[in-house]
Amino acid sequence: MIKSPKVTLRYQQIKDAKRFFKIFQSPNFTYFNVRVKTVEEEREFLRKNKEKRKNNSEHNFSIIYKKKLVGAVGISIQRRSYIGEIGYFIDEKYWRKGIATAAVKLVEEIALKKLKIRRLEIYCHPKNVGSRKVAEKSGYKKQAILKKYYDRGNGNLENSVLYAKIIDN
Ligand SMILES: CC(C)(COP(=O)(O)OP(=O)(O)OC[C@H]1O[C@@H](n2cnc3c(N)ncnc32)[C@H](O)[C@@H]1OP(=O)(O)O)[C@@H](O)C(=O)NCCC(=O)NCCS
Repeated sequence: MIKSPKVTLRYQQIKDAKRFFKIFQSPNFTYFNVRVKTVEEEREFLRKNKEKRKNNSEHNFSIIYKKKLVGAVGISIQRRSYIGEIGYFIDEKYWRKGIATAAVKLVEEIALKKLKIRRLEIYCHPKNVGSRKVAEKSGYKKQAILKKYYDRGNGNLENSVLYAKIIDN
């Protein structure tokens, strides 16, 4: 568990599935790429978290705000152990309260201190204004537009904006 004055992050639990699933149902999650179709599928995702932590491929956290579960933030580590990709989502009822920005700050601390990550990345759909603002406010610099990067499941591959923050020590 890690805390700031605004939010607390804790490991995700299987019982978070229903709440997360409900949050994803929002029609305003336009540029969010998770397409879990049932609560059971979400449970299955959450069950795998422990193993993923063990093999250092994903570290996913639930975001608690005023004692309520309002979203999630995670770091995914693929081929290079020193590069982490941050992802996040917040229940739309809690948007624009600085929650995602506060969660990114906490997860960065974990990335740096615990996971020894040196480069953090955030990928956003070009039209995902909220997500881009979270990245920019958190000090990430736009590095590239990645062409045909997102498979949005609608037959089209769409571009992505790559943001990154370099951690010098
Ligand atoms: C993107 C998302 C996580 C932002 O969460 P949030 O908690 O509302 O973000 P914050 O409150 O920390 O906002 C940071 C800044 O972005 C601004 N912002 C947030 N959403 C915005 C939007 N839709 N349009 C314009 N600005 C927005 C905030 O006002 C704030 O700026 P300010 O401090 O100058 O006022 C949330 O909208 C979300 O869950 N979207 C759906 C899932 C998703 O797209 N995830 C990202 C996938 S890459």
